[in-house]
Amino acid sequence: MTTSPVQAAASTALPQPIINPEPGAFAADFNQRPFDFSHNLGNHPLFALPRLVQLSETLINSDMSDRVSCMDSNSAIDSQWAGCHLTDQVSHIIENIEQAGSWVLLKSAQIDPAYAALTEQVLAELETLSAMPFRSQITWLDTYIFIASPQAVTPYHIDHEATFLFQIHGERTANLFDPRDRSILSETEIEQYYGGNLGAALHTPAKQEKALIYPLTPGRGVHHPSRAPHWFKNGQQYSVAMGIHFCLKGCDQEAYIYQVNHLLRQLGGQPTAPGQSKLKDILKAKVLSALSKKNPRSKGDLLRSGFFRCREIMNFPRKLFP
Ligand SMILES: [Fe+2]
Repeated sequence: MTTSPVQAAASTALPQPIINPEPGAFAADFNQRPFDFSHNLGNHPLFALPRLVQLSETLINSDMSDRVSCMDSNSAIDSQWAGCHLTDQVSHIIENIEQAGSWVLLKSAQIDPAYAALTEQVLAELETLSAMPFRSQITWLDTYIFIASPQAVTPYHIDHEATFLFQIHGERTANLFDPRDRSILSETEIEQYYGGNLGAALHTPAKQEKALIYPLTPGRGVHHPSRAPHWFKNGQQYSVAMGIHFCLKGCDQEAYIYQVNHLLRQLGGQPTAPGQSKLKDILKAKVLSALSKKNPRSKGDLLRSGFFRCREIMNFPRKLFP
């Protein structure tokens, strides 16, 4: 039986709604603590492997090959990120993800109009569900697609951005942690992370006792707020998941405070911890904001351009008088 163009178009239409409305968590816990939810993207054709090969080629051929990365997936929970494969192998790895022992990350999926429409609809639904018009506060937005082999482990880490992760294919276990619990994520770990050590947050058995564990199947999703530690373990099948990632203005300001503190500490100071002095926090955030690129072209620009400039200025006297 052949499929008519009308049927083919209908099969790739976005579900209405994408996220199933549930009272409670979206409004109470948005960007505060992790929670799970249900959605209607499970096994959607936009995430079939041939379609994802097409997306990877679009990214590579549009001079965005840095938006595609591919890594060995046989990592331990507490390991740092493993080495990259070459991007010319990406199509082959996606097609053979069941046996490849790898994971592929496609960033900026929204350069393809189909994924842009999907991202827009998800954000609109999230604003309604959370009762927060947070889109006006977004300073950076990106849609990632993770494609990973069976049993793949995404090691424990934190991200600056908040995330809504949608499991599309395969089973996966999400281990999420409360970012506000300082016995899990210490002030030192946060400051080191914003100072450039992306692996600063360390997993321990004691922290694991406090994990919020969510079994993910197609149609389930999780929210992890800014800086919520997380690690994932795939099940017996390959996994495809979509993450809508975004930075919010308030979180950026906090990052800038930690960065100034990191620089002051390197100069021998004992800076006031964030939250102890409103005036100092405002001043620190303003200094880094002023030094940051006005039109950031990446999350790195947004988060670190002011930090790098500030560090250069602080180190200038040392260069003059070594
Ligand atoms: Fe992450």
